[in-house]
This record gives sequence, C-alpha cells and structure tokens, in this order.
Amino acid sequence: MIKQAIIPLAGFGTRLLPLTSVFAKELLPIYGKPGIEYILDECIDAGIKDIIFIISKKKEMIKDYFYNDSFYKKIIKKKKDPRIIKEYKKILRYKKMIKFVYQNKPLGTGDAVLKTRKFIKDKFFLMLLPDDLIIKKNCSKSMVKIHNQFKASVMASMNVSRTNVSRWGIYKLKRKLNKNNYLIEDVVEKPSIKDAPSNKAVIGRYILPKSIFTKLQTQKPGKGGEIHITDAIRSLIMNNEKFIAHNFRGKYLDCGTMSGYIKSSMEISKI
Ligand code: G1P
Repeated sequence: MIKQAIIPLAGFGTRLLPLTSVFAKELLPIYGKPGIEYILDECIDAGIKDIIFIISKKKEMIKDYFYNDSFYKKIIKKKKDPRIIKEYKKILRYKKMIKFVYQNKPLGTGDAVLKTRKFIKDKFFLMLLPDDLIIKKNCSKSMVKIHNQFKASVMASMNVSRTNVSRWGIYKLKRKLNKNNYLIEDVVEKPSIKDAPSNKAVIGRYILPKSIFTKLQTQKPGKGGEIHITDAIRSLIMNNEKFIAHNFRGKYLDCGTMSGYIKSSMEISKI
C-alpha cells in the first residue's frame, strides 16, 4: 500500500512572475481555493496518510498557512461564522498529515526528493509536482491501483505535441501491459526534438521505490546543472527496476505557467 506522499514546493515560480514575487505559487487561488489544496485532496482521496512538504526558507508562507491557529481561534471566537469554522477544520485536517523538510538551495527535483529520505518508511511512495493539476479523475488513485496490481513503480504519462518535447521528461516505451499502461524502456529529461524517443511526456505524478535514494546520493547534475529525478529513474531502469507509464484519464492543467494558470480556474469552474 502507498501511504506516504512527498511534494516539492521549494521552486521560485519564476514562470508566474509577478504573482510569485512575494507569494508562494502553490497558495495562489485556483477558482477560490489554493492550488496546493487540490493536490492534498487528491492525496487524501488516494488513501495517503502522511505527506512531506519540501519547502525552503523563502517559502515559509506555506507552513504559516497551515499553522495560523491563534488567528483562526480569535476570529472564530469573535464571529462564530460556520464557514470559517469549516475552513479551519479542513486546515487542521491537512496540518495533521503534513511534515516539513527544507531544501534551501534550488538544486533540482532529485535533490528535493533526497531531503525526504529519513521520513520514508515503506518500499514505495508517491510524489506529486504541484504545478501539474489533474482534474475530473484522481490520477494518484489510479496509479496506486496499477502499483498494487504490478508491484512496480508508476509514472503519469500524456501525449504532447512533438514540437514541445523539450519541455518534458520523455518516455521510450517497451511494451503495452494493458489498456492505459506501458512498460518503460527509458526516459530522457527534456530532450531536443531530434533526440526525443517519443512524444509521450512525464506528468508530475510518480510512485517511486525507496531505492531511488541510493541513486540520488551519487547522482551527478544533468540538464541545466540540476539534479533531476528523471536521471535517477533512468539509472534505476538500467538496473532492471520495473517502471510503468500510466496514460491517465483526467484532464491535465499546467498551473506552472501564466497561460495555464489562468486557464485552470476557467476549466475548474466548468466541472
Ligand atoms: C518536471 C520534470 C519533467 C516532467 C515535468 C512534468 O519538469 O523534470 O521530467 O515532465 O516536471 O510537469 P519541470 O516542470 O519542473 O520543468
């Protein structure tokens, strides 16, 4: 069973400037709700009990959001507003599940994952990249099911336009397992169009094995000088670790870019 999830939140959010100049992008509202709460709700609904946030000193606002008890208590005592009481209860529920670790230097997603090492108890855990919202169908929940069936690592996958492959991690697939699931032969971080093995992209949901930590410990910086989780995954695949690409059925919203962020509120309003 997958019980733990990790969420890297230390990024600067430069693609959303000026909105992120003083504000954490994961707290920006999407149709009246902070983006991070959509991610937390997906985790809870997928059976996750324990969540690790990787933040930085510059992103402490995220911790403050969940630890603002005295403020809520004061307001509730004064106003007794049932809506505020309900919202506070929801925050308390999230808070109980979340631990915080720090990544103060932006050395890449792989480095962020390594920071959670001492907290991971089971053989596999879930990672969600908060820029990637998937609505209408719980992608993490479907991936947990696949994991339980095949006892393997699982990553979300989506076809992208060939001209855009250099924005994503790109899969080379080995064979079809069933309707929406494929065994992965290789994965490359942000390849050029010429080097891309396909147009199937990695989307930010991963069920990873604990053995990834050993790989990450000696992982050399890759594209752009960052330590990429994709490179560590690649190295595990080369060691015959089984990874499955799951073609998810929900709708993908790229909240990490300005146009995607604007569109996401409109899309959610239609549900
Ligand atoms: C990260 C991963 C990339 C993946 C993408 C999905 O890139 O490194 O492999 O395809 O998330 O959103 P980033 O968005 O951090 O540039």
